[in-house]
Amino acid sequence: MRDIGIGLIGSGYIGKTHAIAYAAHNAVFGGPARPVCRALAEIDQQKADQEATSLGFKRGTGNWRDLLDADDIDVIAIATPNALHKEMAIAAIQAGKHVYIEKPLALDATEAEAIINAYEAQTTNTNPLVHMLGYNYLCNPMISVAKTMIDSGELGEIVHFRGRHNEDYMASPDVPFSWRCSRTAAGTGALGDMGSHIIGMAMHLAGPASSLSGDTTTVIQRRKDHTGTMRTVENDDQAQALVRFESGAMGILETSRIALGKKQGLAFEIVGTKGSIEFDQERMNELRLYEANAPIGRAGFKTLLVDSSCPDFGAFCPAPGHGLGYNDLKIIEVNRLMKAIVAGAPVPVDLYQARDIERIIDTWITSAEQRTWLNLD
Ligand code: NAI
Repeated sequence: MRDIGIGLIGSGYIGKTHAIAYAAHNAVFGGPARPVCRALAEIDQQKADQEATSLGFKRGTGNWRDLLDADDIDVIAIATPNALHKEMAIAAIQAGKHVYIEKPLALDATEAEAIINAYEAQTTNTNPLVHMLGYNYLCNPMISVAKTMIDSGELGEIVHFRGRHNEDYMASPDVPFSWRCSRTAAGTGALGDMGSHIIGMAMHLAGPASSLSGDTTTVIQRRKDHTGTMRTVENDDQAQALVRFESGAMGILETSRIALGKKQGLAFEIVGTKGSIEFDQERMNELRLYEANAPIGRAGFKTLLVDSSCPDFGAFCPAPGHGLGYNDLKIIEVNRLMKAIVAGAPVPVDLYQARDIERIIDTWITSAEQRTWLNLD
């Protein structure tokens, strides 16, 4: 069993999910590698010490750069607001560390390219650096089943992908202005935060996109910050796009952070020439399937429930239908990271795929500004 030392930067919402996944990984998946929580970096020493203790890290530091030359750290995991990803990722790569970066990779595709340039300058055949993004929804066993159905041709030719990632965490005007509302700290709004997830899902299942026509709006234009000062919201609350995939398939993508009633509304419908599938993350242990060749009088969507025939599920539980939850997706993602480090296995989303997601977001924004269809390079 090889120990892989983890240095985590940021212990907010997703940082905690990382900590849970590192701690649980070995119990779920076992060897040949196990993540070991060595250091946690936060904004100051006091917060770092507190969070390191509660999240199970050996030490805390108020300066993330301390992780760079620490010999006991193999992976730097970046779970900080988006604007910090580029500087942290480049520094980690230049220090020879594997990187596990939360989505979205960066503020835009130009920043993403800078991270890739640093990676290409640093990685070598004898010492390859692993790079993985936190697109955890792709790790759902039911998404693996959907991918197998598509890749095997079971659904025929894919002709349409309709996807959304809508939530309502900012639907109330009383939700304060946070880093997520700032163009400098977050880049785009709903588009980078959740749209990136549904774009990643669309690319994973329907392949690369070739063109799109996007639109965005900011519905709640001003919010109070934590001091009570009214601030202008600088990015989108909701966004939608018509998409054409390289395969010729058509698509519709949408995202919103003000979609009242949607709590984890990442969902899609995929239409093929032999069958269709539907998925909703609020019912994440199910996949609905319609088969065109069903006998007359027996056609209709049926609901497949997760079981040990679905990749990764059996590692958690032998009993069919005993579902997984959101945090379990991160445990599966961490297992992908371990396998990539010890065996060179592919990861769900790497720097190059994450850069392509950034290109789609940039093109979506430009298309919305120009009110026109645009090709993706
Ligand atoms: P958050 O605001 O809850 O947490 C960010 C943490 O980073 C805070 O604890 C903050 O103190 C810390 N931090 C800020 N500057 C720092 C610095 N210079 N050094 C060390 N620590 C610093 O934000 P949240 O929601 O955890 O988001 C962080 C990242 O994770 C974002 O990129 C976001 O898009 C992504 N995310 C991914 C999700 C997923 O499903 N994969 C879900 C939620 C967020």
